[in-house]
Amino acid sequence: MRTLIVGVGALGGTIATRGINASVPIWLATRRAETAAVLRKSGLRVSGIGGAAEARSVRVAAIEEYAKGDKFDLIVLATKAHDALEAAPSLARLLAPSGTLLCIQNGGVSQMLSERLGAEVVLGGLSNLGATMVEPGVYEQRNAGHLLIGEVAGGISDRAMNVAEALRPAMEMRVTANLRGAIWSKLLLNCSVTTIGALANQTMRGYMASAAGREVFGRTYDEALAVALASGTPPERMIVDPVPPHGDRGRWIDQILAHYGDIKPSMLQDFERGRRTEIDFINGYATEVGRKLGVGVAMNAAITAMAHRIEQGEVRPDPARLDDLLRLAG
Ligand SMILES: NC(=O)c1ccc[n+]([C@@H]2O[C@H](COP(=O)([O-])OP(=O)(O)OC[C@H]3O[C@@H](n4cnc5c(N)ncnc54)[C@H](OP(=O)(O)O)[C@@H]3O)[C@@H](O)[C@H]2O)c1
Repeated sequence: MRTLIVGVGALGGTIATRGINASVPIWLATRRAETAAVLRKSGLRVSGIGGAAEARSVRVAAIEEYAKGDKFDLIVLATKAHDALEAAPSLARLLAPSGTLLCIQNGGVSQMLSERLGAEVVLGGLSNLGATMVEPGVYEQRNAGHLLIGEVAGGISDRAMNVAEALRPAMEMRVTANLRGAIWSKLLLNCSVTTIGALANQTMRGYMASAAGREVFGRTYDEALAVALASGTPPERMIVDPVPPHGDRGRWIDQILAHYGDIKPSMLQDFERGRRTEIDFINGYATEVGRKLGVGVAMNAAITAMAHRIEQGEVRPDPARLDDLLRLAG
């Protein structure tokens, strides 16, 4: 399966290195020609969980250097969410007949692109493999996660099985019949655990020590869960049951804390580096879908607005943001 990976950052670079190392026919597309030149010279290296691997000779060019005649059976879109929405429409020209565009962003990207480009083109994916980019061409795999893929409309298809087979030498691949449910499960945690931690400049364990943190967490999670259920998508059970028990939630919260309580939120790193976050595809997506469906999303809307204010340098991530959110959401 001729495969083009678009976006050679933390995740794209890690998958590409392991795939090329295992002789998967992979080409790479960067945003800029200079980055492509650097990668052609340096090759790719990955270290960390899963062991070291390298790809000395890589076929890489800037995305606009790929001509209409370059056709791929599979394009893996490994950019951030906002870049994915921008780049995807022009990638159709590089797909072979019956080719597949696989989106691996968190949140609503695969759903949005499936609506825009057609369900027959777009396959959705979700990575629980964590990776970082040390510098262009050098990546570190942080855990032994996998890539879960599936049809946005649900069910198991031959093409999802074929794509999983093709990428299996690069990483552990799983196919789900309920991709949207899996996406919502991850989204529920991203909306609450990750985003709140980023705004408060704390881990989840840190902000759950305060009454304000517990209230913001509970309201954010419950709103996002109500949106998922109203959209007809029962979240799939991943590590923790996505539906909290009625009554005492103490044990359920302890389970979430045990898995995610001490992780530095990735969005906080985006704030620290002055990078655009994926907030519009996380709490912003829950807000947008909730409003369409008439579900109350005041806390997710307040979180989205607050994240934008931090991106613009108007306020800083700080525990005081928790009280701000309670005031804003009413
Ligand atoms: N990293 C993880 O552990 C992880 C885990 C789960 C999910 N994810 C999701 O996976 C996605 C990618 O994350 P990441 O951490 O790999 O991001 P990243 O390190 O920022 O990499 C994204 C790459 O895409 C490139 N890019 C942007 N627009 C492009 C275009 N039009 N054509 C070609 N390349 C383009 C960027 O190049 P420039 O630097 O030139 O902009 C960058 O190298 C995100 O949605 C993220 O939420 C990541």
